Amino acid sequence: MPLTAYDLSGRTAFVTGSASGIGRASAVLLAEAGATVHCADRDAQGLHETATLIKDAGGTAHTHTLDVADRTQVDQAVASATAATGRLDVMAAIAGIMHNSPVLETRDEDLDRVLNINFKGVLYACQAAARAMIAANTGTTTTAATATNADEANRSRRPGSIITMASGAVDTGGPGLLCYGAAKAAVVQLTKTLATEVGPHGIRVNAVAPGWIRTPMTDRHDTATQAHTEGLMVRMSPLGRVGEPEDIAHAVLHLASDASAFTTGQILRPNGGVAMPW
Ligand code: NAI
Repeated sequence: MPLTAYDLSGRTAFVTGSASGIGRASAVLLAEAGATVHCADRDAQGLHETATLIKDAGGTAHTHTLDVADRTQVDQAVASATAATGRLDVMAAIAGIMHNSPVLETRDEDLDRVLNINFKGVLYACQAAARAMIAANTGTTTTAATATNADEANRSRRPGSIITMASGAVDTGGPGLLCYGAAKAAVVQLTKTLATEVGPHGIRVNAVAPGWIRTPMTDRHDTATQAHTEGLMVRMSPLGRVGEPEDIAHAVLHLASDASAFTTGQILRPNGGVAMPW
């Protein structure tokens, strides 16, 4: 039984990018905390594997095969998730791709592809989630207009939490990271802007900016290169290890849950201490 503040029983979560890596670990952990989890990704086989992991552990999962860069597909999947359970409490917009190219070799199509998936894909998920959360709260019996005070109105609202996936790249930059870093910087701006706009509806919006995490995205497909990269990360971290998807899933759970009820518009940086920005 999770601690009360981390208990997501009766809540519905939607997780993009949940066929693999950080998204899969997050979907599994949110389900373990009691949420009904809607897993979305373009990889149908990976989605099936994630849903099986959740169900085998006694949780509830539904799958949505979609391209996050297609607004219609995202809207339809979120609408179907909302229809199935009556509401949406958590959106974790995690799907993303890596792209490396020097600035002078970056083509329009590279920039478009990365921005479409890593920024617009997050934007569409955030918009669909925020609309669903606002619509659910509009039906609340005690509204700001009828409550005797603002505190009462706030308590009567069902809390909503939107989590975006940024990256340590927004703090450090690095060679080849123009497209990826630009999209992640845009995600941070989206997070802060949306937090100010939907806060009055009782909805929190926060970003997670992980450091280097061992997932298929960071797999170099070459033992020597992989060992070199991981060795570098181990030396850079005061904790002396690389990050695992579960490290980020716990950050997602924290932001999804009432444990972070007074946290919005923030960037949480689970990076092993590799970077320590103000
Ligand atoms: P991953 O490659 O294991 O998982 C990414 C998932 O997103 C995959 O299941 C993939 O099918 C899905 N996806 C990609 N494009 C999609 C699209 N157009 N529509 C639907 N699904 C799509 O990668 P990982 O490492 O788990 O990354 C997850 C997120 O975390 C990404 O946004 C990534 O930028 C971010 N991140 C990862 C870090 C790392 O070191 N692994 C560090 C910082 C951020």
